[in-house]
Amino acid sequence: MQQVRHRILCVDDEVKNLKLLEALLVPEGYEMIEAKDGKEALSKIRKDRIDLILLDVMMPEMDGFELCKEIKGNKKYRNIPVVMITALTAKADRIKGIEAGAEEFLSKPFDQGEVIARVKMLLRVKDLNDKLNSSYNNINRLTDFGEDIIKTFNPLEFDFMSKIDGIVGQLIRQTSDMTDRPETVLVRIPNEKQNYEWYRYEFIFDKLDRLKFEMNILLKLPKADDSRLLFYNEAVMSGPMFEAFTGKLRAYNISAKNMVCYMSNNLSVFALNYGRDVTSYDAAVLNNIVMQTLFLRSLSSQVKETENAFEYMVHALARASEANDEDTGNHILRIGFYSAVIAKKLGMNDGFAETIKLQSQMHDVGKIHTPAEILKKPGKLTNEEWKIMKMHTERGGAILGSHIRLKTAKAIALTHHERWDGSGYPRGLSGEQIPIEGRIISIADQYDALRNARVYKPAFDHDKAHRIIEEGDGRTIPAHFDPRVLTAYKELSGRFEEIYEKLKN
Ligand SMILES: [Fe+2]
Ligand SMILES: [Fe+2]
Repeated sequence: MQQVRHRILCVDDEVKNLKLLEALLVPEGYEMIEAKDGKEALSKIRKDRIDLILLDVMMPEMDGFELCKEIKGNKKYRNIPVVMITALTAKADRIKGIEAGAEEFLSKPFDQGEVIARVKMLLRVKDLNDKLNSSYNNINRLTDFGEDIIKTFNPLEFDFMSKIDGIVGQLIRQTSDMTDRPETVLVRIPNEKQNYEWYRYEFIFDKLDRLKFEMNILLKLPKADDSRLLFYNEAVMSGPMFEAFTGKLRAYNISAKNMVCYMSNNLSVFALNYGRDVTSYDAAVLNNIVMQTLFLRSLSSQVKETENAFEYMVHALARASEANDEDTGNHILRIGFYSAVIAKKLGMNDGFAETIKLQSQMHDVGKIHTPAEILKKPGKLTNEEWKIMKMHTERGGAILGSHIRLKTAKAIALTHHERWDGSGYPRGLSGEQIPIEGRIISIADQYDALRNARVYKPAFDHDKAHRIIEEGDGRTIPAHFDPRVLTAYKELSGRFEEIYEKLKN
């Protein structure tokens, strides 16, 4: 594969020496950059990538030693090898040069073979060093990224595609000097139709660009030494084994010179065209980061499944509680929606709103124990019957038990008939003795009961129900409700009407 030309900076105040070195090194394929003094040299080092510096000791103003010290004292440039050019006999200069941090020495007059050999050797070491540094940087960058994924991992909100975007964004070349990164990344994901979707990623105008495309191809890649680590360079990729693949890609204007890939049925990633040969190390990096994401996806789907099962069981139990009751339609669903909007209005966090939305649905679960004759009795309940009716709160609490996940549901079952003024049941709690979830459900339940026909009353329209809650009707009075919750309700009464209309049956 094409090697980037090394750039050598020659610093000498004597044009004669510069020309001599140029005549020696340019035919070897090096690019020569010249500087006549230390100041000019520093500005060129800052401006361009420099791979090696040839430095004359004797220069006006800043001499070679000072310049060398300056370069070696700079974190950014200290990896550039410096060769000092001294007079043949100047032993003291060499010692001074070593102290200044120079890697090598050349003596004037130059021995052609020696100059070329030393330059070559130093550049080889520099290349290896650069590779090592870039590997370290890559490892650090990807470890940070992996750590970040885990730290911010929320199984219920895990979005696979945006995680893939994240991986590719970390991996792909963003500026032309990032030659150790791939230019193009292709991603293959199975879809529901037993087929694959392909995405092509490139970094265009400072932005990661993702393009979906159709490609029908059976991928049979030659096995690498380690079957997990798939990486291929130009010699192999231009061969017949890859023709099916590269030929298809050519049709999309994608050339494939080298490639690292991760392949599985769930996700395949192909990183194409690094600016250098690819190695098993590149494949290992890709493998790790992709597998981490696949693991998080599977964890997320397991958590989501468990969460769904939990919600499903809550609904089942809530429905069971209605078995003996008069037909209340979507009452329990509506209660969930009303209470969630109130919770949000009161400034509660999303988690609380979600919990109350789901768990409020079990507020009357204790009615499983209440005889149908009482629940459906058209006339006034006797004292004895009323006593049994009131028991549905504590019975509900007992059914819901002591599991931490049902704490809110239990509090709601126990307190949704308590009143702010202390006139409720079962315990006659008042004010903030009643947990906030109970205070919220109390008003939601009241509004919905007013909207529906009950054995003891007809259905009211929104205006009438609203007026009764706001002003009272003797049976219901505003003092029953937490003033904060009542204010929230008043501001939200339009939303209440909407929810009722939407989930009427
Ligand atoms: Fe109730
Ligand atoms: Fe209810």
